[in-house]
Amino acid sequence: MNAPITPTVDAPMIPPELVAPAFAPSTFADRDAVHALFTRLRRDYPLNQVEVPGYDPHWIVTKYADLREIARQDDIFHGGDRSKTLISQAGEELVKQYTGGQSNIFRSLVQLDPPEHKKYRDVAADSFSLASMKALKPMVDGIARDYAERFFAHAPEVDFAGEIAFHYPLKVVLDLIGVPEADHPKMLELTQWLFTWADPDLRRPGSNLEDPTEITKTWGIVFDEFEKYYTPIIEDRRRCPAHDLATVLANGKVDGGPLEHRALISYFIIASTAGHDTTAATTGTGMWQLAERPDILAMLKADPALIPGFVEETIRWATPVQQFVRSATQDYQIKGRTIKKGDLVYLSYLSANRDEEAFEDPFTFNPLRSPNRHVGFGFGGHTCLGIHLARMEMISFWQQVIPRLKSVTLTGTPRMAESEFVCGPKSVPIRFEVE
Ligand code: HEM
Repeated sequence: MNAPITPTVDAPMIPPELVAPAFAPSTFADRDAVHALFTRLRRDYPLNQVEVPGYDPHWIVTKYADLREIARQDDIFHGGDRSKTLISQAGEELVKQYTGGQSNIFRSLVQLDPPEHKKYRDVAADSFSLASMKALKPMVDGIARDYAERFFAHAPEVDFAGEIAFHYPLKVVLDLIGVPEADHPKMLELTQWLFTWADPDLRRPGSNLEDPTEITKTWGIVFDEFEKYYTPIIEDRRRCPAHDLATVLANGKVDGGPLEHRALISYFIIASTAGHDTTAATTGTGMWQLAERPDILAMLKADPALIPGFVEETIRWATPVQQFVRSATQDYQIKGRTIKKGDLVYLSYLSANRDEEAFEDPFTFNPLRSPNRHVGFGFGGHTCLGIHLARMEMISFWQQVIPRLKSVTLTGTPRMAESEFVCGPKSVPIRFEVE
């Protein structure tokens, strides 16, 4: 419920030069810098607006409690009326040209709002339920075993992110969708263009970062590529249903009819991108932590029952989905401030998961943290649809790896991708011994 309207307290604007780095993809490659910035914002500007040149004003939500309060009310704070992710004014203008006036190229679940959102979410809800995960577990365990063996075969040295973490969750989710293995590398490439559109190693060849509309151009190309790829698959599954997610989506019904075209393609896109890049980022982060903290490896080896807690803490620590933006559909009072109808609200999951008021010693990686109510999977009606799958596949992988991993150390500095949106390590160089 919205609180009764009370007088607004004086809420100073945040100096733009302070927040500008949080709008730049390259900042996120430097975790110390980015966390220092959000720590400062939590302390000095816990819920304030900023107007960074080239962008519309945004409320910057850095505190855990505020983020949950806003994310919970998805009827008031929409994902589809304006861009769901941070975008420049020039970028959003081009999106409108591409889409005939919409603010988002994609119309996946994250960009849908009540009441439409639930109808679309229900289409795949059963496929991602706990009961479905139970049925899927033998398949996931088999893939985890295979990737654990591939990892051990690299001994004594490997770039864990590049060789293992990027590929294992990709295989899980694309098998689930029903994408042939030969096409997995193409799906990985498109995902990296989408999420790491500005990273020098991962971005689309030919992209031009001097162009303020580059993000939109890349996203347009990515949408078209996925549309080309999935259209024949959709037709095929309508003719010959199979036991896969592609069949569920292609034959799904909303209000008695098929899914709207852009929403259907976007459903495939979110599953084919967010369904692995996030998990890859978290898995890479897990190995990075084990390499830096031999005490944790020893603890998990001594008691593998602690692995689920380890996985949960890797999600909090990595927070691969760093931000999403909402826009207010009405005036809303929070902390004595008024978020006005139409205002943009930047939800920093990354910051909320390090909020000193929500987590004890938030900058300590602690697999024993309990409870660990992080917002790494979001909060409210848009809470990650793949939450059970992500947890299951990561637990399964570490259960295969940790008992046989004798030691692991870094051979260089891990490198984070340059991305203000979905972000994780692109390289985790390690030396390791197998039992
Ligand atoms: C939504 C994170 C794995 C599919 C979300 C959201 C977050 C998130 C933060 C909320 C978006 C919002 O606030 O609007 C993660 C993390 C993962 C992960 C950290 C792994 C560690 C997966 C997997 C899938 C998946 C494996 C499988 C296909 C989705 C979908 C949504 C979503 C479809 C949209 C839900 C909705 O808007 O109703 N995820 N995700 N994610 N995620 Fe995940």
